Amino acid sequence: MLVDRFGRLHTDLRVSLTDKCNLRCAYCMPAEGLAWLPRQEVLTDDEVVRAVGVAVGLGVREVRLTGGEPLIRPGLVGIVRRLAKLTPRPHLSMTTNGIGLAVLAAELAAAGLDRINVSLDTLDRERFLALTRRDRLADVLAGLTAAASSGLAPVKVNAVLMRGLNDVEAPALLDFCLHRGYQLRFIEQMPLDAQHAWDRTQMVTAEEILDRLTATHTLTPNEGRGSSPAETWLVDGGPARVGVIASVTRPFCAACDRLRLTADGQVRNCLFAREESDLRELLRAGASESELAERLRSAVAGKRAGHGIDDPTFLQPARPMSAIGG
Ligand code: 5AD
Ligand code: SF4
Repeated sequence: MLVDRFGRLHTDLRVSLTDKCNLRCAYCMPAEGLAWLPRQEVLTDDEVVRAVGVAVGLGVREVRLTGGEPLIRPGLVGIVRRLAKLTPRPHLSMTTNGIGLAVLAAELAAAGLDRINVSLDTLDRERFLALTRRDRLADVLAGLTAAASSGLAPVKVNAVLMRGLNDVEAPALLDFCLHRGYQLRFIEQMPLDAQHAWDRTQMVTAEEILDRLTATHTLTPNEGRGSSPAETWLVDGGPARVGVIASVTRPFCAACDRLRLTADGQVRNCLFAREESDLRELLRAGASESELAERLRSAVAGKRAGHGIDDPTFLQPARPMSAIGG
């Protein structure tokens, strides 16, 4: 089992399938994009499936595919199909920006994908363009519809608010999701942008998000959040809910059960970790199951108590979110 020094059991693995993306969200990367990983550094399909298999053998029960943008990974459907054949079969989900989902949703569901999280920060075409530097709102909306009709339910929507850009849109995003039966979760902006422009004083806090929502809706606190990072509120008496992931102002590190594998095969025990463990080197050196398992175990053993974003000594990780995996 993957247990750290603080007794936290790790059952949730986030697997980045590519560091590339077809959007350029302002809180993530610069308009010109980033220097993508050379192809030979990215894990092959076989390597991904083997690594996840070892993790499943160590108690991982939830596998979340991320990027960059996972939908642009060639062979994605095949990877999902193979992961769904692992025993015990892990729960399979994906975090995506939704572009291309209209075409792939049904195939992914048939391959064994259980659930999906789509990032959507605005419903306004101009604002979408300003925020992501691409005119692709219609594709994202079509992707959401396809996900719901393919049974990738419940569809969750992730939204990041940026001051002066889309912060006024919190209630509109909630109404949109309520009408369609999507579960909306707002995520506090974290210091994971490649440009290192994150500014604590500019960040839209959970408190502010809730203030905006309560101007138009009644929110009632829901039950405890367990290991889920989202605190949820019943909207207008329920059963619909809205979540807020307050990674910065109300960190949930004490209940964290996640581990990450980057597209280039590095194990990270936290989004904000400053060290990584090289699994790719072992995979390519013909390592045994037990050697791979040992590297995963030691990566978890070295996990720190918390990310310390609000601490003056906090240092942003060298790699941005797109290279780590959301
Ligand atoms: N802070 C908060 N959320 C972020 N995401 C990407 N970068 C950041 C950041 N710096 C979000 C994406 C997506 C999820 C994987 O994380 O919008 O919803
Ligand atoms: Fe792409 Fe996600 Fe980064 Fe936006 S936040 S640029 S969708 S990786």
